[in-house]
Amino acid sequence: MADKKNLRTPIVCVMGHVDHGKTTLLDKIRGTAIVSGEAGAITQHIGATEVPIDVIINKLGDPRLRDRFIVPGLLFIDTPGHHAFTTLRSRGGALADLAIVVVDINEGFKPQTYESLQILKRFKTPFVVVANKIDRIGGWVSQKDLPFAVTFKKQSEDVQARLETKLYEVIGELYNQGFAAERYDRVTNFQKTLGVVPVSAMTGEGIPDVLMVLLGLAQKFLEANLHYSAKGPGVGTVLEVKEEKGLGATLDVILYDGTLKKGDTVVIGSLGKPIQTKVRALLKPRELSEMRYESKFKQVNKVTAAVGVKISAPGLEGALAGSPIRVANEDTLDEIVDQIKSEIDEVRIDTGAVGIMIKADTLGSLEALVHEFQKDEISIRKAEVGDISHRDAIEASTVEDPLYSVIIGFNVKVHPDARDFLQESTVKVFTSDVIYRLVEDYQKYVKEQQE
Ligand code: GTP
Ligand code: MG
Repeated sequence: MADKKNLRTPIVCVMGHVDHGKTTLLDKIRGTAIVSGEAGAITQHIGATEVPIDVIINKLGDPRLRDRFIVPGLLFIDTPGHHAFTTLRSRGGALADLAIVVVDINEGFKPQTYESLQILKRFKTPFVVVANKIDRIGGWVSQKDLPFAVTFKKQSEDVQARLETKLYEVIGELYNQGFAAERYDRVTNFQKTLGVVPVSAMTGEGIPDVLMVLLGLAQKFLEANLHYSAKGPGVGTVLEVKEEKGLGATLDVILYDGTLKKGDTVVIGSLGKPIQTKVRALLKPRELSEMRYESKFKQVNKVTAAVGVKISAPGLEGALAGSPIRVANEDTLDEIVDQIKSEIDEVRIDTGAVGIMIKADTLGSLEALVHEFQKDEISIRKAEVGDISHRDAIEASTVEDPLYSVIIGFNVKVHPDARDFLQESTVKVFTSDVIYRLVEDYQKYVKEQQE
């Protein structure tokens, strides 16, 4: 068995369609722990929540499980609303080690459910599906916080049948998306079959089961991958570039490897040359009990992966969401600057050749879009992070072929002067916050043009 000290906390990303219950699920995982007097054990991070293994084991109610799991806990990241999981990238893959896909069992699959699945498939990220809001199934009698098997047995036969019908619709959809899935307690091999856990994030029913499946996945898939060196230089991903009162531009970062200290030199990707700066402050959210303080944040001198932290430093304005951030020293600085530059250049495209233009909100979403369009062999002339500008509009309008006089915008704004210009021009603009919809819309447009 691996040495516990060398294992870092797995990062679990909670994904799914708007309003299907991602935040409620996380609140529940946190909340019941608070109720059971373990609030201090739960650490609130920037953009994430850390739940230690002891709290999880307590929730599972079987202390014998303690020895079976060697992960130190789970770091949960909520991906709010339309803010795509795609931001959570790391070089060559997903930042998340594991994921939870939340789907409302009554509503079924929606655009962002499909999108989540496509991304997970592409990155080969292990995940569990939560079929949420079972308390809304007609006739359901809620049993607060109980495991699914127990609450299910207490329901009438009619209600049980209704749940099974809805559940198998979810399982059928998963099958259509290329995943073999089963109700989690009917799965014998989680490496071959996806587990689907019926849950009510509201009442807490099924939550212990979700944690159990997650721990199992964490254990099986991650044992080999979780080694990290607390002494090594920090490596992370920028979740968001945020203006904070009194601090200016700050970065919300998930550090997934190594250590980051106040005063460290860090390198971050930007549209031009990578940013080099010194960390002025590392900030974490204050605990609820510390709310007497003015500021929402407290300073720490050092953080170790996996952790969510806010970084205050000079010159962060041009930083790119989704970009890597790395700690450098005198010896490694040049190499790291080159690395980050090339990592960003790999995602950005500026060929000047014939093709469409793609604009996206973060490096991760840009990467995903470029991947999808290239998969369908659609030529791209330019792909970059940022809103649709007047210059973009002019550039697109110089392209003669209507199939390529096109701007694709994902989660971006159209600048007013660009909008005025575009209205007068023949440039075709597609904007959406769903990646595959942009691909579909463009393909439909191509078909129409060819007829
Ligand atoms: P976004 O962050 O906007 O994408 O939504 P979300 O997925 O985080 O959903 P959220 O947790 O905010 O829940 C949306 C609504 O559904 C809220 O009104 C919740 O109270 C409700 N809800 C979530 N889970 C359940 C559940 O298990 N049962 C019932 N009845 N309602 C739920
Ligand atoms: Mg939410």
